[in-house]
Amino acid sequence: MGEMEECSVTECTRCPELVDSRSQIVNGTGPEDADVLFVGEGPGAQEDTEGEPFVGRSGSVLDDQLRTVGLDRESVRITNCVRCRPPENRDPTTEELSNCRGYLETEIDRVDPDVIITLGKVPSEHLLERSVAVTKEAGTVEEVRIQGTPRRLLICVHPAAMLYDRSQEDTFNETIAHAAELAGVEGSEGGSGQTHLDNF
Ligand code: URA
Repeated sequence: MGEMEECSVTECTRCPELVDSRSQIVNGTGPEDADVLFVGEGPGAQEDTEGEPFVGRSGSVLDDQLRTVGLDRESVRITNCVRCRPPENRDPTTEELSNCRGYLETEIDRVDPDVIITLGKVPSEHLLERSVAVTKEAGTVEEVRIQGTPRRLLICVHPAAMLYDRSQEDTFNETIAHAAELAGVEGSEGGSGQTHLDNF
């Protein structure tokens, strides 16, 4: 079983393969009362080394666009579906996702964000509990119940997609801009964003 303090898992040995492949548990980062919560797939090599999500090349892509839309990395919460690095960066298995689900749900519950942005296919499908064609559905806002609470979820392509397919750049950038709008960031496209919140 695992142990959790606030939003952080301090000890967990539920996934034998991940216990072998990780060097540490990578918890979410950012304010525990952030308006915006990004959910990635799982830690990569750099994240495993540093103990923080999205600090590698995908992280730079994300940070650049966050800055552009006036959402500083320091003001948002960033976490992953699984907190331990899968071997050779393979996708987390259904069992690993489900083992880590409770930690993610606790984090969502505590942070209570205005909007959850799922980065890529794995987190989108995990939280929406259906198959998702991310490239096609990116930018779509959906309501989903998580632990009984309705949550607003915005589907986004994974920032790593930009590293090998520049054609996804506009979709990614527009989705992050939309996230800023939904969170009511001053100066983001569409003004205060409050109207969007009311209209949702
Ligand atoms: N990709 C992810 O999905 N999560 C990270 O933390 C880093 C890269």
